[in-house]
Amino acid sequence: MRKKTATLIDNETGKKYELPIHHGTMGPRAIDVSRLYADSGMLLLAPGFLSTAACRSAITYIDGGKGILLYRGYPIKELAEQSNYLETCYLLLNGKLPSKKEMAAFTDIISHHTLVHEGLKGFYNGFRRDAHPMAIMVGVVGALAAFYHDSTDITKAKHRIISAHRLIAKMPTIAAFSYKYATGQPFIYPDNSLSYSDNFLHMMFAVPCEKYEINPVTSRALDMVLILHADHEQNASTSTVRIAGSSGANPFACISSGIAALWGPAHGGANEAVIRMLESITSKKQIPKIVARAKDPKDSYRLMGFGHRVYKNYDPRATVLREMCHKVLEELGAGDQKMFEIALELERIAREDPYFLEKNLYPNVDFYSGMILKAIGIPLNMYTVIFAMARTVGWVAHWMEMMSDPDLRISRPRQLFTGQLPMEYRSIESRGDGKSCLFPEDRPE
Ligand code: SDX
Repeated sequence: MRKKTATLIDNETGKKYELPIHHGTMGPRAIDVSRLYADSGMLLLAPGFLSTAACRSAITYIDGGKGILLYRGYPIKELAEQSNYLETCYLLLNGKLPSKKEMAAFTDIISHHTLVHEGLKGFYNGFRRDAHPMAIMVGVVGALAAFYHDSTDITKAKHRIISAHRLIAKMPTIAAFSYKYATGQPFIYPDNSLSYSDNFLHMMFAVPCEKYEINPVTSRALDMVLILHADHEQNASTSTVRIAGSSGANPFACISSGIAALWGPAHGGANEAVIRMLESITSKKQIPKIVARAKDPKDSYRLMGFGHRVYKNYDPRATVLREMCHKVLEELGAGDQKMFEIALELERIAREDPYFLEKNLYPNVDFYSGMILKAIGIPLNMYTVIFAMARTVGWVAHWMEMMSDPDLRISRPRQLFTGQLPMEYRSIESRGDGKSCLFPEDRPE
């Protein structure tokens, strides 16, 4: 019987280390190196955590080679086509699909946490009207901690659960308020008789002076977008939430840190960046030049919405979104058919190019999502806010999973030090009059 270990031989010292190998229920095996530093004095170097498993998790499974994404074992395409976002929230939080009774109870709980404290509305006035709504989200969500002193004892499961429900319930309200604040329109309160997505559309687009009719195609499209963005294992923002939570920070601060990490164009900010990129392409003739720039190693320009750390195949969410995009543009007769055709042509050219083929660069979740959001009337600077709203359940599910892990300890990576050897302090008089170099890049080589 083969030992479930890997042997590391340090050829510099001749020492050997037996490292346990762990098997998950699916996916790559993992070599346990938690004792490596204690036993060998050596660290593992993996910038960007490439090839590194930071934790055990049972929430979401991705097979990047096969383009598979499962939430608690359920394929993303089936959930997107047959479930709804609130049921998917229950699934991600509880690990199983709810019965009718469980779903009714969960819906009732979430519906009765949609309001925010009236004092929270005042926070918006501190922002410029043209503030990016993600800046507002980071601030206002973090500020929730100031209103819930009664439930931030993270050692109590009851406090963790009510914080989870509050965050899922209040994100649409906070997000819609950030949009209303920017437009100067009055905040619209949640209507608990509406579904999760309908309520968000109502708070975004209703005005006190007339009835707002919700378009069922728009509502269904938004709900599917939320399902597709709900979780994605240990991505940058989820890992940020986990690291913040490992210090014992309250859940509102942790989710605020996740929102901040998601904002980057390499991550959740890509959906907004894709639309800006597509808007800059006024004719298909420009596409070869755009693709050439993306391939140029001397040019930092990247094809937004392409590539993925894990998917080296088609992102299954992009497949669902591309089909949905076509349908929504047709049914709504709105949106930008021309932009969609430019996107399809960009995808076709990229996918025929050896550079993209060799590097396994496929369209990811952000490549088509923006066009759907545009077609259903969501303003461009709210795209990443929608992603944050959807991902809140994933962040919270991972935070809950981590907080109930008996092996929980603070996340504290090490480094390979490349700085100065020990130096002796010298008085300023004795340092000569070297060129003033305020910043490292000014420092003479
Ligand atoms: C999301 O992690 C998640 O799960 C994230 C997410 C989620 O649901 O949480 O799926 C959501 O963030 C999707 C990704 C959205 N970002 C973008 O679309 C921005 C454009 N894509 C890239 O910046 C990039 O592909 C990343 C950030 C997504 C992945 O970066 P990696 O894994 O660090 O890969 P890399 O940058 O090392 O790229 C590998 C090679 C490089 O070339 P070489 O150095 O090997 O020569 O591929 C090239 C890159 O230059 N490359 C691209 C490219 N993406 C990678 N070249 C041109 N255009 C691109 N988009």
